[in-house]
Amino acid sequence: MRRLLPEPPVEVTVPELAAELRPSEESRDGRPYVLTNFVLTLDGRATLGGVSGPLGTKRDTEMLVALRTRVEAVMIGAGTMRKECYGRVLADPTKRERREAEGLPHDPLMVLVSGRLDLPWEAPLFTEGAGEVVIFTASEEDPPETATTVEVVRHEGVVDLPAAMAHLRGERGVRSLLCEGGPHLHAQLIQAGLVDEMFVTHAPKLAGGEGPGLVAGLPEAERPVELVWLVAENETDELFARYRVI
Ligand SMILES: NC(=O)c1ccc[n+]([C@@H]2O[C@H](COP(=O)([O-])OP(=O)(O)OC[C@H]3O[C@@H](n4cnc5c(N)ncnc54)[C@H](OP(=O)(O)O)[C@@H]3O)[C@@H](O)[C@H]2O)c1
Repeated sequence: MRRLLPEPPVEVTVPELAAELRPSEESRDGRPYVLTNFVLTLDGRATLGGVSGPLGTKRDTEMLVALRTRVEAVMIGAGTMRKECYGRVLADPTKRERREAEGLPHDPLMVLVSGRLDLPWEAPLFTEGAGEVVIFTASEEDPPETATTVEVVRHEGVVDLPAAMAHLRGERGVRSLLCEGGPHLHAQLIQAGLVDEMFVTHAPKLAGGEGPGLVAGLPEAERPVELVWLVAENETDELFARYRVI
């Protein structure tokens, strides 16, 4: 891979890029430092056939996993959980051990945001019994018994995302969080001023159709961001951009 910007261009690897990231050392008042990650087509779609898998390559997955190794929590919305059926966030034990040596928790805390608590309870995330899950929900239902430890935090009406972030920082000690979508959750985090950096993989393909983009339901306004780096993968023609929210 070649980092094109900032200049001068240099050859880099995903582990080298990830090693530059220290999100837990960035201080934010009363909340975690928040990164987001998305893969998008040339026409700005975040899905093909209803899921994101066909958009990225092995290199994109490597980048996503590398980002996960740098944070203390990973957050997704219920829509993404229903479509993508997550398992343990970091499957590779070597990666988990390396985190501990750096003062990060063994497994990133998995955080779900759900209005209705209509989740795929058969997903490996709940059945494997590894790591821990926190679910912020507006539902009064109780979740079923799960092998994995699940904390349910209830909010009235809708999940208040600033309050959820404050809970993660204050009650769970989370200093850094990676939100992996989806577009509805992402839009609300941006609107609430809760996103610090965005990692976007630009996939060299068109998807068409009616799939969502980077955000869904975000009120119109100009919101400038600053390019931190742009990396090109020669083999796959993917572009990996890192933006800082101004
Ligand atoms: N290209 C990519 O990188 C990428 C990344 C992630 C996802 N995706 C794709 O995006 C699609 C899902 O999109 P999406 O926008 O529907 O997903 P989403 O943002 O993950 O989920 C939306 C759901 O999250 C819950 N939610 C969000 N904010 C809430 C709040 N403040 N209070 C209460 N509940 C809240 C609601 O769940 P309830 O339904 O429980 O009320 C809502 O229906 C999937 O097809 C997935 O594959 C693509």
